[in-house]
Amino acid sequence: MTRRFHLTTFGCQMNEHDSERMKGMLDSLGYEEAAAAGDAELLLFNTCSIREKADSRFIAHLRQAAAQKRSRPGTVIGVGGCWAQSVKDQVFRDFPFVDVAFGPGQVHKLGEFLTTDQITAQGYFEFEGFTGHLPAKRERDFSAWMQIAVGCNMACSYCIVPSTRGRQVSRPGPELVAEARELVADGVREITLLGQNVNAYGRDLEAGPARTTFAGLLGELDAIDGLARIRYTSPHPQDFKEDVVRAHAELESLAPHLHLPLQSGSSTVLKAMRRTYDRGRFMDRVALIREHCPDIAITTDIIVGFPGETDADFAETLEVCEKVGFDGAFTFVYSPRRETEAATFADRFVDEQVASERIAALVELIQRRARDRAQRFVGRTLDVLVEGTSRTDPSRLRGRTGHNKVVNFEGVASPGQIVPVTITSASSQTLSGELSLLASAAAR
Ligand code: SAH
Ligand code: SF4
Ligand code: F3S
Repeated sequence: MTRRFHLTTFGCQMNEHDSERMKGMLDSLGYEEAAAAGDAELLLFNTCSIREKADSRFIAHLRQAAAQKRSRPGTVIGVGGCWAQSVKDQVFRDFPFVDVAFGPGQVHKLGEFLTTDQITAQGYFEFEGFTGHLPAKRERDFSAWMQIAVGCNMACSYCIVPSTRGRQVSRPGPELVAEARELVADGVREITLLGQNVNAYGRDLEAGPARTTFAGLLGELDAIDGLARIRYTSPHPQDFKEDVVRAHAELESLAPHLHLPLQSGSSTVLKAMRRTYDRGRFMDRVALIREHCPDIAITTDIIVGFPGETDADFAETLEVCEKVGFDGAFTFVYSPRRETEAATFADRFVDEQVASERIAALVELIQRRARDRAQRFVGRTLDVLVEGTSRTDPSRLRGRTGHNKVVNFEGVASPGQIVPVTITSASSQTLSGELSLLASAAAR
């Protein structure tokens, strides 16, 4: 009998990619993906624990799965990812209906569990680095993720990731280049490199042919014929240096987009966050990249309401955002996480109401500056990687520019094609345009 699975993914691109690998593995074990959770015998969750909201969303789903198992005994429930890692075996005590739990990157253990006759619930929480070359089921044929390193050696005081993903383990350069070549041969045009601090990539590799720097890796990937776009996330302002700036200026396939997380514009707060750079260093990184790549899009992550953040600290965050003029930002209210240093700063927690007023003011500023910045694209013809039809108007197409801006446009083209689109208007989030008249000749 074919067994069907249903997988719900929470969290960041790392999890999205781990889920692709899970699906590839399940496929090779003969499982089929069910259209809805209600049709599946194997219910899987790939979880995130970055903020409290992520936990509560997932637990509501888990309760539903438990109800399904009660009405259909024999249903198997599996929980993977960062939340599972952060609560470890406690998961079986608090949620006794869970059959298997595993940390991020322990996807192969799920396979082991499913292929042996396990009688008792199993937990797998070792840190093993990058585990294995599982087939991935890509969501889009033409776009792929590549995890260049797992884990994180930083110790940001608010962040749960070092405890859920372990120390940084980089994958050898030649292995990554070979994987990229295979992806391109399989029709991939765009690869996004994933790591928690990509600029620290390679430092943990043994000296020798397998070891390369992040900028070196970018150069090797750029040399692959047929790979049109390389993206990466996230760099860290401490380690973001001249060699990567040079790569942006010189490598044709490296997308003109930099996601450089600021977190706070106040040096005092940055210090309490243990971010290891100050406001001056951040501004200096922005100046350096803009000097060499004036048109590059810069986006960021910001946390408001970090313990001890004063009105004056927050004003500094606004000031930095005004000065930099980000092309976009993810903004978050600080959320205390178990076993992190900042969670012990309870005496300095910022009032919820104050934090929500701050985030509203920040979002308004970010959107205004993003909208202003986006006007520079109006009238230009940009290369757009077509993703499919527009989400709001099925008669139009949707794609992404190298700057990582979503474009909705008129015209005829197929997903995976890169076509020239003339931009006619721009809002803070999206661009609007039409396929350039040269499109049919220029479509590549
Ligand atoms: N490694 C990446 C970030 C991964 S987490 C980096 O250092 O840039 C993604 C974002 O979630 C972070 O940049 C941060 O802005 C936010 N975040 C992490 N922990 C948080 C917490 N406890 N509360 C609120 N936001 C948080
Ligand atoms: Fe978390 Fe900091 Fe590592 Fe990013 S660099 S994953 S914020 S500890
Ligand atoms: Fe990603 Fe969430 Fe883990 S953001 S690294 S899945 S805690």
